[in-house]
Amino acid sequence: MRIVLLGPPGAGKGTQARRLCEELSWAHVSTGDILRDAVKRGTVVGREAKRYMDAGQLVPDAVVIKIIAQRLKRKDCANGFILDGFPRTLAQCEALEAILEKLAMPIERAIHLTVPRQALFRRLSGRRLCRQCQAPYHMESHPPKKEGVCDACGGEVYQRDDDKPEPVRKRIDDYERVVASVAPFYMKRGIYLEVDGDRTIPRVYEDLLKLVKGKRRGRGFQRRGVPSAAPVRHS
Ligand code: AP5
Repeated sequence: MRIVLLGPPGAGKGTQARRLCEELSWAHVSTGDILRDAVKRGTVVGREAKRYMDAGQLVPDAVVIKIIAQRLKRKDCANGFILDGFPRTLAQCEALEAILEKLAMPIERAIHLTVPRQALFRRLSGRRLCRQCQAPYHMESHPPKKEGVCDACGGEVYQRDDDKPEPVRKRIDDYERVVASVAPFYMKRGIYLEVDGDRTIPRVYEDLLKLVKGKRRGRGFQRRGVPSAAPVRHS
């Protein structure tokens, strides 16, 4: 299955997409991870993206669309994928649709993880990441067993620059614009769903797994091309 996972910063997109893709052998395609890797390697894209990312701003459409077009052609996407952090603008939605049309691999579901604003601040201020494998941690709810060291690969666990208070506020505020443009795009195609992300990680995961395995088609879930009257909420 091919899925777009939407949600504000800190909604748990990375946490859930990682687990689902491991379970289902799908590709986890995160524009944030790809861009952070480019920054780490000091590539031309990384140098351009860094100033936007550090300020909590979106990287220009042309840059991320090019990255996604290349990534989705890779073999590991043929079995299914979850897009995490893309698309975020109408231009990105349209570009993605065109790219996938050429590959004959349309998006089948757009799942929006919803979380109240206050919870997002708590999650992001406590978040840590592995510099090497990108595994996510949280200083209160899910700390690494050994401080500063990744359980999975032994890499360094660090705090993202854009998880500091000012960029966090900006990213959360700006997310309103993302919802306003991206959600209606997928609603019109009848593949948009909302899932309550303000529950424990395992509870959200359980729900998502049922949804993507097709075992839980909620009332009102409609096929592509048929406009849905209202988003379906799973909680
Ligand atoms: P990106 O990396 O995509 O950041 P984001 O969308 O802001 O999302 P986050 O990674 O902050 O949150 P998440 O939802 O993945 O949460 P996570 O699972 O880590 O993008 C970063 C930057 O790159 C952007 O600001 C932009 O500059 C650029 N960029 C990326 N894509 C772009 C695009 N398409 N266009 C333009 N620019 C782009 O969880 C967060 C924390 O909460 C963790 O500590 C986790 O352990 C904890 N947690 C998760 N779930 C739960 C739960 N259920 N309960 C309690 N804690 C939880």
